[in-house]
Amino acid sequence: MLYFLIFAVAWSSAQRADIPPVKDGVMELKMVHIVWRHGDRSPTKTFKADLFQEDAWTFGGGGWGQLSPMGMFQHLTLGKKLRNRYVNDVNSTYNFLPSVYDQKTMYVRSTGINRTLISATSNMLGMYGQDGYGSAAGTDFPDAQGWPRGFVPIPIHTVDYDSDHIGNMDSDCPRREWLWNLAQQSEEVKNWRNSAAVSSTIDELTSYVNETWSLEDFWIVPDALFIEQIYYNASLRANNTWFSDDFYNRIVAVNDQIYMFQYGIFNNTVTMQNMNIGLELLKVRSGPLMNDMIDRINTKSDCTYSKIATGCDWINGLKYFVYSAHDETVYAVLVALGIERFAIIPHGYPLYSAAVSVEYWRNTTDNNNYFKLVYHKQSGDGFEVMTSEIEGCSGDYCSMDVLEQIARKLKPDQPIDKWCLITESSSSYSVSISFLMFVATTLNYLFM
Ligand SMILES: *[C@@H]1O[C@H](CO)[C@@H](O)[C@H](O)[C@H]1NC(C)=O
Ligand SMILES: *[C@@H]1O[C@H](CO)[C@@H](O)[C@H](O)[C@H]1NC(C)=O
Ligand SMILES: *[C@@H]1O[C@H](CO)[C@@H](O)[C@H](O)[C@H]1NC(C)=O
Ligand SMILES: *[C@@H]1O[C@H](CO)[C@@H](O)[C@H](O)[C@H]1NC(C)=O
Ligand SMILES: *[C@@H]1O[C@H](CO)[C@@H](O)[C@H](O)[C@H]1NC(C)=O
Ligand SMILES: *[C@@H]1O[C@H](CO)[C@@H](O)[C@H](O)[C@H]1NC(C)=O
Repeated sequence: MLYFLIFAVAWSSAQRADIPPVKDGVMELKMVHIVWRHGDRSPTKTFKADLFQEDAWTFGGGGWGQLSPMGMFQHLTLGKKLRNRYVNDVNSTYNFLPSVYDQKTMYVRSTGINRTLISATSNMLGMYGQDGYGSAAGTDFPDAQGWPRGFVPIPIHTVDYDSDHIGNMDSDCPRREWLWNLAQQSEEVKNWRNSAAVSSTIDELTSYVNETWSLEDFWIVPDALFIEQIYYNASLRANNTWFSDDFYNRIVAVNDQIYMFQYGIFNNTVTMQNMNIGLELLKVRSGPLMNDMIDRINTKSDCTYSKIATGCDWINGLKYFVYSAHDETVYAVLVALGIERFAIIPHGYPLYSAAVSVEYWRNTTDNNNYFKLVYHKQSGDGFEVMTSEIEGCSGDYCSMDVLEQIARKLKPDQPIDKWCLITESSSSYSVSISFLMFVATTLNYLFM
């Protein structure tokens, strides 16, 4: 009996570990990073005169910014699709991950708020938590009444929201705000803001809702109206006589442009205080995430192909790394790669459960690393390979050097928690650093 148990345990762990490598010709899939937006939610805030205030939202625990059952379902669906792409199963494109959850193979990191955490839970329910996926009662979940058959809980890790510069583009980062204030003084942003079409749209909104808007808060109105059209379409239109599809589309277009500016996308290079403002904005928004990803890919590669002896245990097993996050996080990746125009067509922001997957592949002939970029535009869509849209790439696979160069260019000059505190240009910054060092040396000398 004991022998049988040992045999059974050995067999099941061997079965989990010994998935043959996934090949596409000479290409071998090594690791996947995926960044997704949460699903459908309630507004996170709204204008003061709105009929639909916090008590209008009762789902997902109730109140502002909560994931709705529709949002949960969107991630359940995406999780099932990801299973079809990556998990060892009859329908799978790549039998890459084990059919039953194996803690060594994956890590899920969510931003620290309810809707992204619950989106991750819902997604994992689709990927690993269904009856019939091969998990075993008594091993993978309790064989007990009251426990849903096949439901395997997956750990969702998180970090403090306000200091999460990787997943949360609204983290506490004075440098990002300082750069944004500079950007707003640029000719390009001022000319756009003062153009007749834009200023009349903003003025109209102010008169309708009796509130004035800064550019960075402007999103609140189109976002709330987007959601109210899903949940309260008829009474929204009946009560707010100013609401029209045309007006809504105009404020959405204004908002899209604000987002582009905030991510440093200008028609002309904006130079202020000797800085390329567009580049500096991207360094605080996309830099930490892109570098987090490429560092992990490089570690995986080094641990697999260079003879690195220590510190490789975790990464050797790791195959799937998730960032459960926000539209802005998905956007940060797309902008870094120069393909934000595909976020949604014709333009705009990543929709609910939009997901971008960065697949790390190894060419076993030339022994170089490649990546494939795959985009899930919105719930209901499939996965689209977008690699060839990236500058410097052609075909479905692109040299990892391209991704590495992008990440390096966007790498903050210092660890991001320090970099976020620097609100002066790098030239005056180095002046003040040398000055401080001079003071320190002098003091040191005086007190010696
Ligand atoms: C998350 O849920 C808790 C408890 O329901 C609530 O107090 C909190 O405000 C929510 N936070 C966010 C960021 O959604
Ligand atoms: C507009 O807002 C101001 C300040 O909040 C308030 O005093 C005023 O009554 C509002 N007017 C209308 C028409 O709602
Ligand atoms: C809201 O109603 C309008 C007008 O009836 C319709 O055109 C639109 O498709 C509806 N929107 C949603 C999200 O249901
Ligand atoms: C909004 O309009 C609906 C009609 O669709 C009406 O029943 C409702 O009472 C109105 N709500 C308010 C707060 O005026
Ligand atoms: C950028 O250039 C395009 C093409 O000329 C133009 O349509 C758009 O309005 C410009 N955007 C801004 C913000 O000036
Ligand atoms: C893999 O490397 C071989 C040898 O250099 C090359 O011919 C082939 O095009 C590479 N395959 C891909 C998909 O990059």
